[in-house]
Order: sequence, then structure tokens, then C-alpha cells
Amino acid sequence: MKATVTAHKDFAISKIDDRIYSAFLEHLGRAIYTGIYEPDHATADKNGMRGDVAKLVKDLNIPFVRYPGGNFVSAYNWEDGIGPREQRPTRLDLAWHTSESNAVGIHEFSDWCETVNTKMMLAINLGSRGLDEARNFVEYVNGPTGSYWGDLRKKNGRAEPFDVKLWCLGNEMDGPWQVGHKTAVEYGRLAGETAKTLRAFDKSLELVVCGSSNSDMKTYPEWERVVLEHTYESVDHISLHMYFANRAKNTANYLALNHKLDTYIATIESTINLVKANKRSKHNVYISFDEWNVWYHSNVQDREILGGNKGWPHAPRLLEDVYNFEDVLQVGCILNTFIRRSNVVKIACIAQLVNVIAPIMTDPKGAAWRQTIYYPYYFASIYGRGTALNLAVKCPGYNADVADNVPYVDISAVHNEAEGMLTFFAVNRHATEKLDVEVSLQGFGTAKLHDHQVLTHVSLEAVNTGSDQNNVVPQKGKGAVIEGQTLKASLPPYSYQMLRVKV
Ligand code: AHR
Repeated sequence: MKATVTAHKDFAISKIDDRIYSAFLEHLGRAIYTGIYEPDHATADKNGMRGDVAKLVKDLNIPFVRYPGGNFVSAYNWEDGIGPREQRPTRLDLAWHTSESNAVGIHEFSDWCETVNTKMMLAINLGSRGLDEARNFVEYVNGPTGSYWGDLRKKNGRAEPFDVKLWCLGNEMDGPWQVGHKTAVEYGRLAGETAKTLRAFDKSLELVVCGSSNSDMKTYPEWERVVLEHTYESVDHISLHMYFANRAKNTANYLALNHKLDTYIATIESTINLVKANKRSKHNVYISFDEWNVWYHSNVQDREILGGNKGWPHAPRLLEDVYNFEDVLQVGCILNTFIRRSNVVKIACIAQLVNVIAPIMTDPKGAAWRQTIYYPYYFASIYGRGTALNLAVKCPGYNADVADNVPYVDISAVHNEAEGMLTFFAVNRHATEKLDVEVSLQGFGTAKLHDHQVLTHVSLEAVNTGSDQNNVVPQKGKGAVIEGQTLKASLPPYSYQMLRVKV
């Protein structure tokens, strides 16, 4: 099968905001405890943070990590996680039916972020709490000493403000499962007043208001319209979430799901523009896609704990999806969608980062390893920085549940002018046929193939585990060439590729 692609240097979608390669860590299952924090682990640093995990995280060069939730944040008291550890309370976490020791709080998390070279994106509890606690939290984190909260932070070991710029006004407030779930009007009013109050403290904060938990919510997309009517001028981003699943074991349908993601983004972009027009506003609001990933492998095993049948365990195994090779293709397609929609998606967070629906897995007291999906995320984060190009793609397609004529190739391109590098990320969705792709490189001058990495496997079900960590890993690609102004590559059936061209 053949596909032709045209890439022109001047046909830009947008400069990509590096923050689309961000991640998310929640106090959930073993994400924090025995994930990033395990004081008696052989690799633990002086703060009790696992060095082996920190190394795998640092390699990803993650711009921001959203914290501390998720559903967890909607009943979280941030004050429980400050001050001497031995005085911190153990609380029942109502979102995940577990116990929270509070051994890790904002100070410990900030230190870890410095270790792994990332920044905090903090979520505020607008579920069980409200405006006053939001204000106190932001003043504690960013306020000057000489004020009540700034001085308390200093007493707890940190005189300098944490200087966190990016704040989420609650989490999934449209969801009936959420502690403190609200209607769009109730939430819009609260978020608007909270934004106004936080801006009175610091105009330069970047604020993210909650959009839909997924595009199947009954309230979508009216939720976004109403919430933005109440908040448009005082927020910078609207948050969207989406998780992907192949419960029906239909790969063709599964790998078409990023078309649904694409429509979701386009619809909310239109909603933003509608509200902007209604308000006659100059202000821009963008999308923060701050939870996305594959999530379904662990659903059955999680039922016991989520149903409360196991009491209130501390850091149990929850949402521990073991990702397979098929999920590599899915994550590749999702990341391509964010690159192609980088004009409006300015933040995106893979959910989550360690153990809980995560690219990194650990054994308590044991190894840390890369799950299969680590690799497409790694390649996009490291090499997908620059300007997204608007490609013209001609390729045969197939009809799927969510869309017709889904092209067998899913491809995005990023031009990094400073490095003189043009990078393509491509997925062949065909089960049995290789795809011979010819990419016409227009306006780039001389071109030379720099790197070609491939992920493929005889089994879609192949996984990496603690005892077999390198079952699914990238291999050097073969056979790609540049002839004149054309890049020619043959993509094996069911494969993920990264091709880098020096231009
Ligand atoms: O990431 C897991 C959960 O998914 C988050 O806590 C919640 O925001 C979403 O429903």
C-alpha cells in the first residue's frame, strides 16, 4: 500500500507549546508511595525519593507535572501535607477508598520536581472546599514572608516562594462521581470568583478551568459554553480529559479513536470562539488536555478496592494497567493529534506518570522499568519540539465506529528550525500490509536522514514486565532514504516510527 505526504516549510500549524509533553501524578494507589517515594528503597535519596524512578522520569524532560489530583484533590486538605511528618494526619481518601498518610505534601513534591527537572502545575480543591482555602493555598505556595502563610511556609523549611504559575480550578467538576460535583452554573460562578480572587493576589497566574471529563458526558459541550460564559475573561485554559480503551478487542476501531479526540478538541475550540464572540473579547483561552492515556486493562482487578471491599488500604495496587504493544500505536496517534492541534492545545498531561496508568512501573523494594507506552511519549517529548507542520496526506483508509475513511497512516511533523531538524512521527494502522510512504519535502533545501526509530512486534499483546523489561523497545529503522527532495520509508504493518531529517 502507498501513501504520499507533502511537507512544506512554510505551511505551519503553530509553534508547539512544550507543555503538551507534561504529565500528571495523583495521590492514588502507588503513584506516590512506592512509586516516586519509598524511603527504604535501595536507590532512595535523602528525601526518600526513589533514584531509579527519578532517572526514568528525568529522561523524559517533562515540562510540568500536575499534582495532587485528580479525583483525590476534591476532598484533599493541602494543610495535612505540611509541617513535621510525625504530626501529619492519616485521612481517608474518599475518591479511591484508601488511606492517605500525608508523608508527601507540597514541600516534598516540590523538591522531587527539582530533582527530575520539572515544574509543578497545582490543582485546587473546589469540591469539598472553596474560595477561602484556594486563596490560602496559593498564598502559602507563592506568598511573601512577612505574611501569615508565607511565614508558615518559612517555618516549614522554605522561605522562598515556590513560585507556581499554573493552577487548576478543581478537577472534573462535571462528574457526578466527584466529591462536590456541581452544575455548570454553580461551578462557573465558583470558578469565576476564585479566579478573580487569585488574580487579586497575582495577575500573572495562569488559570485552568474545568471542562468535560470526556466527550460522552451528557453535559458536553454545553458545560464548556456555560462555564466559559462565567469565567472567560479571568482564565487562560479550559481543561479536557479523555481515556482510551479497547474493551471490544477490535484494533481497527481502537486505533481510530484519536479521530474522536480530534473532534472533541475541534468542538471545544469552536465553543471557546463562540463565547469569545459573545463577549466581544480580545482575550484568548486555550485547551489544557490535562488527563489523557489508555485506561482499561486494570478495570476488573480494581473493582474490589473501589467498591470498598478491602477497607481503607494505604497505597494499594490501583489502576495498574500493564500496557501492550497495541497501546504504543494508540499513544503515538494521540500525541500526533496534540501536535496537529497545537494551535489550541497548549498543555497536555499524560495520566499518569508512575504505576497508576503510567509509562513507568515499579516493584516495591525492587525494579523500576519502562512500560511499552514510555517510548512514543519519550520520542515526542524529546524530539517533538518546534513548529507543527500542516501535512497534505493521501492514503487509503477504512471505516471505523467513530469515523469513516480513517487513513492507514497517522502522521505528524515538527520542524525545529534552531536545530535544523524535521521530525516525523508515523503510525501504520494496517494489520497486514506495509505502507510505502513518500514524503515530499518542499522549501527545506538539502535534506539528510538523521535517525529512524521503529517500534513493532509480532504480538499486539506484548508487554514489558519487571522480569522482561525489554520485550517491546525501539529498534533502529531500516531502508528509509532521501532521494532529492523526497523521503521514502516503508512502514511495517502495525508499527510506530520516528524519522528525523537534517534540513
Ligand atoms: O487519572 C485517574 C482519574 O481519572 C483521575 O483521578 C480523575 O480526574 C479521572 O477521572
